[in-house]
Amino acid sequence: MAKILVIHGPNLNLLGKREPQVYGNVSLEEIDRQIQQWASAHAWQVEIHQCNHEGRIVDLIGAAIGGVDGILINPAAYTHTSVAIRDALSAAAIPAVEVHVSNIHSREPFRQHSLTAAACRGQICGFGADSYRLGMEALLRLLAGGAGT
Ligand code: DQA
Repeated sequence: MAKILVIHGPNLNLLGKREPQVYGNVSLEEIDRQIQQWASAHAWQVEIHQCNHEGRIVDLIGAAIGGVDGILINPAAYTHTSVAIRDALSAAAIPAVEVHVSNIHSREPFRQHSLTAAACRGQICGFGADSYRLGMEALLRLLAGGAGT
Protein backbone atom coordinates (compact mmCIF):
# COMPACT_ATOMS: atom_id res chain seq x y z
CA MET A 1 0.00 0.00 0.00
CA ALA A 2 1.47 3.36 -1.05
CA LYS A 3 2.25 5.70 1.81
CA ILE A 4 1.75 9.45 1.45
CA LEU A 5 3.13 12.10 3.78
CA VAL A 6 1.06 15.29 3.89
CA ILE A 7 2.71 18.39 5.38
CA HIS A 8 0.85 21.61 6.11
CA GLY A 9 3.14 24.53 6.94
CA PRO A 10 2.77 27.47 9.30
CA ASN A 11 -0.59 29.07 10.05
CA LEU A 12 -2.54 26.54 8.01
CA ASN A 13 -4.04 25.34 11.31
CA LEU A 14 -6.00 28.61 11.09
CA LEU A 15 -7.64 27.82 7.74
CA GLY A 16 -11.34 28.61 7.83
CA LYS A 17 -10.81 31.46 10.28
CA ARG A 18 -7.79 33.10 8.68
CA GLU A 19 -8.40 35.79 5.98
CA PRO A 20 -11.41 33.93 4.53
CA GLN A 21 -11.49 36.29 1.55
CA VAL A 22 -8.08 34.84 0.56
CA TYR A 23 -8.17 31.29 1.94
CA GLY A 24 -11.89 30.47 2.05
CA ASN A 25 -14.02 29.00 4.82
CA VAL A 26 -12.92 25.38 4.86
CA SER A 27 -11.05 24.38 8.01
CA LEU A 28 -7.87 22.31 8.06
CA GLU A 29 -9.76 19.58 9.95
CA GLU A 30 -12.21 19.35 7.04
CA ILE A 31 -9.39 19.28 4.49
CA ASP A 32 -7.65 16.52 6.47
CA ARG A 33 -10.91 14.56 6.68
CA GLN A 34 -11.23 14.76 2.87
CA ILE A 35 -7.60 13.73 2.39
CA GLN A 36 -8.12 10.71 4.66
CA GLN A 37 -11.28 9.74 2.78
CA TRP A 38 -9.67 10.16 -0.59
CA ALA A 39 -6.60 8.20 0.47
CA SER A 40 -8.60 5.27 1.81
CA ALA A 41 -10.77 5.21 -1.33
CA HIS A 42 -7.53 4.65 -3.27
CA ALA A 43 -6.10 2.26 -0.68
CA TRP A 44 -3.34 4.67 0.30
CA GLN A 45 -1.94 5.05 3.74
CA VAL A 46 -1.64 8.70 4.71
CA GLU A 47 0.19 10.49 7.50
CA ILE A 48 -0.71 14.15 8.02
CA HIS A 49 1.24 16.81 9.93
CA GLN A 50 0.74 20.53 10.46
CA CYS A 51 3.90 22.32 11.57
CA ASN A 52 4.66 25.93 12.36
CA HIS A 53 8.41 25.27 12.59
CA GLU A 54 10.77 25.05 9.65
CA GLY A 55 13.24 22.62 11.26
CA ARG A 56 10.43 20.22 12.17
CA ILE A 57 9.35 20.16 8.52
CA VAL A 58 12.94 19.42 7.48
CA ASP A 59 13.02 16.58 10.05
CA LEU A 60 9.72 15.12 8.78
CA ILE A 61 10.97 15.09 5.19
CA GLY A 62 14.28 13.51 6.21
CA ALA A 63 12.51 10.85 8.27
CA ALA A 64 10.34 9.98 5.26
CA ILE A 65 13.29 8.62 3.27
CA GLY A 66 12.82 4.93 2.68
CA GLY A 67 9.35 4.81 4.24
CA VAL A 68 7.18 7.12 2.15
CA ASP A 69 6.23 6.92 -1.53
CA GLY A 70 5.00 10.47 -2.08
CA ILE A 71 4.81 13.85 -0.38
CA LEU A 72 2.01 16.40 -0.64
CA ILE A 73 3.24 19.67 0.83
CA ASN A 74 1.89 23.15 1.39
CA PRO A 75 4.97 24.87 2.82
CA ALA A 76 2.85 28.03 3.35
CA ALA A 77 5.07 31.07 4.10
CA TYR A 78 8.21 28.88 3.95
CA THR A 79 7.49 28.42 0.25
CA HIS A 80 8.98 31.83 -0.32
CA THR A 81 11.92 31.68 2.09
CA SER A 82 13.11 28.18 2.87
CA VAL A 83 16.26 26.90 1.24
CA ALA A 84 16.31 24.28 4.02
CA ILE A 85 12.95 22.76 3.03
CA ARG A 86 13.88 22.87 -0.64
CA ASP A 87 17.16 21.08 0.13
CA ALA A 88 15.32 18.49 2.26
CA LEU A 89 12.92 17.76 -0.61
CA SER A 90 15.81 17.46 -3.07
CA ALA A 91 17.77 15.23 -0.69
CA ALA A 92 14.80 12.96 -0.02
CA ALA A 93 14.15 12.52 -3.76
CA ILE A 94 10.61 11.34 -2.99
CA PRO A 95 8.05 12.45 -5.61
CA ALA A 96 6.44 15.57 -4.16
CA VAL A 97 3.60 17.86 -5.19
CA GLU A 98 3.38 21.41 -3.85
CA VAL A 99 -0.08 22.83 -3.23
CA HIS A 100 -1.43 26.23 -2.25
CA VAL A 101 -4.96 27.23 -1.42
CA SER A 102 -4.56 30.68 -2.97
CA ASN A 103 -3.13 31.55 -6.36
CA ILE A 104 0.29 32.73 -5.21
CA HIS A 105 1.08 34.00 -8.71
CA SER A 106 -1.66 36.61 -8.54
CA ARG A 107 -0.70 37.91 -5.09
CA GLU A 108 2.02 40.16 -3.65
CA PRO A 109 5.37 39.98 -5.50
CA PHE A 110 7.09 38.26 -2.55
CA ARG A 111 4.61 35.36 -2.83
CA GLN A 112 5.00 34.89 -6.55
CA HIS A 113 8.27 33.00 -6.24
CA SER A 114 8.44 29.53 -4.73
CA LEU A 115 11.84 28.31 -3.56
CA THR A 116 10.41 24.88 -2.83
CA ALA A 117 8.49 24.12 -6.03
CA ALA A 118 11.67 23.41 -7.99
CA ALA A 119 12.31 20.43 -5.70
CA CYS A 120 8.78 19.12 -6.37
CA ARG A 121 7.41 17.41 -9.45
CA GLY A 122 4.85 20.18 -9.87
CA GLN A 123 2.70 22.75 -8.18
CA ILE A 124 -1.06 23.23 -7.90
CA CYS A 125 -2.43 26.49 -6.57
CA GLY A 126 -5.45 28.73 -6.60
CA PHE A 127 -8.30 26.24 -6.24
CA GLY A 128 -9.02 26.77 -2.57
CA ALA A 129 -9.37 23.58 -0.53
CA ASP A 130 -9.71 21.70 -3.84
CA SER A 131 -5.99 22.30 -4.46
CA TYR A 132 -5.35 19.46 -1.99
CA ARG A 133 -7.62 17.03 -3.82
CA LEU A 134 -6.07 17.99 -7.16
CA GLY A 135 -2.62 17.63 -5.63
CA MET A 136 -3.48 14.18 -4.28
CA GLU A 137 -4.74 13.17 -7.70
CA ALA A 138 -1.52 14.40 -9.33
CA LEU A 139 0.51 12.42 -6.80
CA LEU A 140 -1.58 9.30 -7.37
CA ARG A 141 -1.00 9.53 -11.10
CA LEU A 142 2.71 10.10 -10.59
CA LEU A 143 3.02 7.09 -8.31
CA ALA A 144 1.03 4.99 -10.75
CA GLY A 145 3.47 6.04 -13.46
CA GLY A 146 0.68 7.78 -15.32
CA ALA A 147 1.55 11.47 -15.46
CA GLY A 148 4.66 13.50 -15.94
CA THR A 149 6.92 10.49 -15.57
C1 DQA B 1 -0.32 29.61 1.06
C2 DQA B 1 0.25 30.84 0.35
C3 DQA B 1 1.43 31.43 1.11
O1 DQA B 1 1.92 32.58 0.44
C4 DQA B 1 1.01 31.82 2.52
O2 DQA B 1 2.13 32.28 3.24
C5 DQA B 1 0.27 30.76 3.23
C6 DQA B 1 -0.69 29.93 2.51
C7 DQA B 1 -1.59 29.06 0.37
O3 DQA B 1 -1.93 27.91 0.62
O4 DQA B 1 -2.27 29.78 -0.37
O5 DQA B 1 0.38 30.64 4.46
O6 DQA B 1 0.64 28.57 1.04
